[in-house]
Amino acid sequence: MKVLLLGANSQLGWELQRTCPEKIQLISCDYPKVDFCSKTSIKQCLETSKPDCIINAAAYTAVDLAEKEIQTAFKVNHEAVADIAQYAGQNDIRLVHISTDYVFNGKNYRPWTIEDSPCPESVYGKSKLEGEIAVRDILKNKALIIRTAWLYSSHGENFVKTMLKLITKKNSLNVVDDQVGTPTWAYGLAKGVWEFIEKSLSGIFHWTDAGIASWYDFAIAIQEEAMGLGLITKTIPILPISSKEFPTPAQRPFYGILDKNMTWKTTAGLNPVHWRVQLRAMLKELN
Ligand SMILES: NC(=O)c1ccc[n+]([C@@H]2O[C@H](COP(=O)([O-])OP(=O)(O)OC[C@H]3O[C@@H](n4cnc5c(N)ncnc54)[C@H](OP(=O)(O)O)[C@@H]3O)[C@@H](O)[C@H]2O)c1
Repeated sequence: MKVLLLGANSQLGWELQRTCPEKIQLISCDYPKVDFCSKTSIKQCLETSKPDCIINAAAYTAVDLAEKEIQTAFKVNHEAVADIAQYAGQNDIRLVHISTDYVFNGKNYRPWTIEDSPCPESVYGKSKLEGEIAVRDILKNKALIIRTAWLYSSHGENFVKTMLKLITKKNSLNVVDDQVGTPTWAYGLAKGVWEFIEKSLSGIFHWTDAGIASWYDFAIAIQEEAMGLGLITKTIPILPISSKEFPTPAQRPFYGILDKNMTWKTTAGLNPVHWRVQLRAMLKELN
């Protein structure tokens, strides 16, 4: 099967490339070879690749900047996705599209299920939801949408790497403790994506690692694990603060836990792994 990977340089795209099964013929593409702000560029990329399946791991992911760059966020996360879905529909190509927990507003007391109605608050969340809607409207149940959250990888920029840098540079750190989610190693998600493709699944699925953490819990774990592995040479006090004490341009969900029961039943070969186990594995890799 010939698979076109859009967003090959993303954290997830990089993990998809290194976990790609041998039998897949993978064509990797990213900006500027394909620019999601240009219809011509998207069309050219799709027409020259002639894939059987497209994985879209590209997105405008600058959550705070999106509050200012609204048009670009919608062009990349909505309009380009609609064009890709249209092309996939017309040419009988399978589409795997990656989405986010930010399609929910975070005001919940139990994990978000795929039956819950999305209700995004940030521009990023709204643009990603419009992308999801376009995919579903155009391809109905033929496409696969995977919502994930709190991604990190040894490739690219993310919370884990930022914490490691800050711990090395600073004498203490304040980290918010009133937003909870599930840190997720993009490597595990990538293996999940290949399994979904192998099983020809469609519809909406949620994928994160297992367990729950606040950003504060996550930062504490990063420091402990990194110290244990000798990745850092000192530890510093990490103090919990509220989101009010750390205002950001975009509002983030306070409760971003996704219900994965359906996913775990469907991908029986891939048992849920606790986020801390995955964090240790990623840090070992960085080492
Ligand atoms: N990161 C998270 O915590 C998180 C959480 C939930 C869901 N997700 C979703 O998971 C997917 C992968 O996220 P990620 O964190 O791995 O992504 P990422 O590392 O932030 O990378 C985003 C990718 O999109 C590409 N891109 C941006 N603008 C583009 C444009 N105009 N044309 C073509 N490509 C463009 C980037 O190319 P350049 O590198 O060249 O700029 C990059 O390869 C996305 O759909 C994201 O919404 C991410």
